[in-house]
Amino acid sequence: ATVSHDFNVGWVTVNPDGAFDRTAIGINGQWPIPRIDANVGDNIVINVHNQLGNQSTSLHFHGLFMNGTVHMDGPSQVTQCPIPPGGSFTYNFTIEQPGTYWYHSHTQSQYPDGLRGPLIIHDPKSPFNGKYDEEIVMTLSDWYHDQMAHLIPEFMSKGNPTGAEPVPQAALMNDTQNLQISVKPKTTYLLRLVNIGAFAGQYFWIEGHTMKIVEVDGVYTKPYETDMIYLSAAQRYSVLVTTKDDAHSNFAIVGSMDTTLFDVLPDDLDWNVTSWLVYDKSKELPKPALVSEFEPADDIKLLPYDSMELLPEPDRTVELEVKMDNLGDGANYAFFNNNTYREPKVPSLYTALTAGELATNPKVYGEYTNSFVLEKDQIVQIVINNHDDGRHPFHLHGHHFQVIHRSDEDGGDFAESNTLHLTFPSTPMRRDTIVVEGNGNVVLRFKANNPGVWLFHCHIEWHIVSGLLATFVEAPLELQKTIELPASHLDNCKAGGFAFAGNAAG
Ligand code: C2O
Repeated sequence: ATVSHDFNVGWVTVNPDGAFDRTAIGINGQWPIPRIDANVGDNIVINVHNQLGNQSTSLHFHGLFMNGTVHMDGPSQVTQCPIPPGGSFTYNFTIEQPGTYWYHSHTQSQYPDGLRGPLIIHDPKSPFNGKYDEEIVMTLSDWYHDQMAHLIPEFMSKGNPTGAEPVPQAALMNDTQNLQISVKPKTTYLLRLVNIGAFAGQYFWIEGHTMKIVEVDGVYTKPYETDMIYLSAAQRYSVLVTTKDDAHSNFAIVGSMDTTLFDVLPDDLDWNVTSWLVYDKSKELPKPALVSEFEPADDIKLLPYDSMELLPEPDRTVELEVKMDNLGDGANYAFFNNNTYREPKVPSLYTALTAGELATNPKVYGEYTNSFVLEKDQIVQIVINNHDDGRHPFHLHGHHFQVIHRSDEDGGDFAESNTLHLTFPSTPMRRDTIVVEGNGNVVLRFKANNPGVWLFHCHIEWHIVSGLLATFVEAPLELQKTIELPASHLDNCKAGGFAFAGNAAG
């Protein structure tokens, strides 16, 4: 089937935490923006009309492989020119993956202004069909009272030499607070959780109930029981929750922002967001108990349902060293291997398609794009050595990767020699967004079987403006033979440049 939507993207006034009216980016005059629902195999057609007036935009469908349609992936200056005010663009692609995803603006760091929402792909063949009665989708996010267009220049200024990220004013569930979710006793729910936030990871739990993880970032897992989950920005989990046989009270559902990410903790910040599982409307809604220690499930212990085996030894290893520092101008930037990403003048995909044989030379994509060119079907290993003391959730477009190693506390650099002492899991978990601990490291593996131009970046939006991005150009010669850009794809490039404050270095 074809799922089509007309999305008029424009400003609306919202107040999701009941504390402050602000303008946010809505769709068709509404916010929260609509959830996209589809089935595996569906064709999705989304006509986007940019009615913002003062900002360019684009949409990315986070976690979808876009196999054969990399030109529909969405990041500005990577796979397309941004849609200028008054402009339009049609996203048209086929969905082959089941699971819990989301879509968001991928033009500069615009999505925290509201242009982000869930994308659910239902699967008639899911191994968990019949194991639950109803489905609930729940988003978690942080929320700022100010607009990104104001926050970004301040964040990237000399007045903020340590690069302290703006602290959100609130946390939200389904873009609100104090949500009451009515449930029936003796019923199993599939709860789909998506962190659509800009910065804060969140711990999530339901008082008095356990959860069984069955999906992570679109990968089915062997059921794994836990009381608590941690979702970084951009991560997703599906869990089965069975309600009590006979309950006459209500239970708090809590999302608690990961305050270790914040440089300062304002006195008035309530880092929890609470909702309730409501068995009985006439009973009180209890305040959640204080939790002093967080013990979420360890995601790298999860096992993929399909038992896909560890990929063979890599043909290519890409090491990325993460650092935060300045460029001598007093402002703080983020670096991969001492290089801070800046958007190229020409979208990297267009370069890959037009450079002929030269497309295999990373230099043609520009010095500041952190480009790595991969050969078709290579086994690629990404090693991230985090020389920053903060956590970073890294996301790769176009793939799931296997997470084969993570050192959590002062693991130092991952060295090749380590592999002599390590046993990697035989059926490692796969996902598309992984947390690297402060001063820790992580090792990921994937097969370069999806020709395209794929970003790899920290999903904390503050770190996107700071330049913590790299570009994987995968099998460009293959791509030249297979991709046909519709003529209209280039229409928005004529407008030229951005109508939005970008990387101060750019
Ligand atoms: Cu949610 Cu570049 O991605």
